[in-house]
Amino acid sequence: MSLSTLDIDLYESEDPIWNPAMMAIPVPGIRKMVNMAAAMEDVIHLSIGQPDLPAPENVVNAAVEALRAGQTGYTMDAGLPELLESLALYYGQRYQRELSPDNIMITTGATEALYLALTAVSAPGRHFIVPDPAFMLYAPLLRMNGGEVTEIATRAEKNHQLDPQEVIDAIQPNTYAIILNSPSNPTGTVYPKETLEAILQEAAYRGIEVISDEVYDHLIYDGKEYPSVLGHTSDLDNVMVVSSFSKTYSMAGMRIGWIIASQGAIKRLRRYHMFTTTVANTPCQWAGVAALNGGSHFIDSMLAEYTRRRDRLVELVEQTPHLTGYKPEGAFYLFPSLPEGVNGTNVALRLLKETGVCTIPGETFGHSCSNALRLSYSTSLDNIEQAFERIIPWMHKQDFS
Ligand SMILES: Cc1ncc(COP(=O)(O)O)c(C=O)c1O
Repeated sequence: MSLSTLDIDLYESEDPIWNPAMMAIPVPGIRKMVNMAAAMEDVIHLSIGQPDLPAPENVVNAAVEALRAGQTGYTMDAGLPELLESLALYYGQRYQRELSPDNIMITTGATEALYLALTAVSAPGRHFIVPDPAFMLYAPLLRMNGGEVTEIATRAEKNHQLDPQEVIDAIQPNTYAIILNSPSNPTGTVYPKETLEAILQEAAYRGIEVISDEVYDHLIYDGKEYPSVLGHTSDLDNVMVVSSFSKTYSMAGMRIGWIIASQGAIKRLRRYHMFTTTVANTPCQWAGVAALNGGSHFIDSMLAEYTRRRDRLVELVEQTPHLTGYKPEGAFYLFPSLPEGVNGTNVALRLLKETGVCTIPGETFGHSCSNALRLSYSTSLDNIEQAFERIIPWMHKQDFS
């Protein structure tokens, strides 16, 4: 089969009825791959972006109990007071800093928090800095609202670490915000505290906002401490930190996230929140309180399981011809490269069609990485082994020169 016949357009053609800003939203490569896979049999997914473990029992019970207790109305606009208190306490203890419930707003997943933060600051004539590759929401949301985006490319050879000097050098007089995501989706890279400190210091000096997406903050391997923006700023004047329960407690479908910022920023965001989703899901906010009060057993056993999977995946990628990997320190993704110039989308499509292994093409996450594939290890060790029993012989047969 020729590669060109498999080319797909990740952007749908323009339709005059829609706001032209909609053109900033690509058709997600993830959806395309998963939809194609759904029409096939015997597919092994290395494509999943959510935990495959069941949510903790105390969390499920708390949601059910809240429903039975009639907790089906709206909460306060900022969120359920008990959850705001629990989060303030939890973050205050984790990063040894004073946080008040007034620094927090509960949202419908981290997705809504990101939507509010990014669209609240983006406007025509404003410039933003985003890592590349990155989670696919950031640049489109900024561009939809007229913002101009500079992408800072990261490379597999450097474990996809973000170079803080490149970020600082990209700052322009009209730069309004820098977007960070550690651990990163799609690379699993964790930024060291030196990277955060350099960027935060420069941003504070120049009055630039740092918007930090920390949804994978508990998926940190090898016993390392997680460097959060919250642990490296003296005040919250120029930062917004976004997170959620989705990845930490396998609660992605319960849709509870939050944003942490200065009290002034939270006041403004509360007004905006009223115009998007009003409030987050009430019984699932009670489930969030239970998650925070449930101890660390769930997270500890999840980390042990994901560490085993990561280690095996790293070995298997090393044994695979044409793939250059590295050892990711967080999240549940590895983003290996194919040789320079190889079209990762074509490879992902052929892999799916010819071996039944579903991966996500690198170009879903940015412009600098069209020769990469995102592999998720949010699936059993057995599935990972079986996927590579198919991938390795297939790769041996390819000639990408
Ligand atoms: C980096 C990143 N941020 C945010 C989200 C969205 O999380 P939520 O389910 O809380 O909306 C995801 C989900 O995959 C993600 O990978």
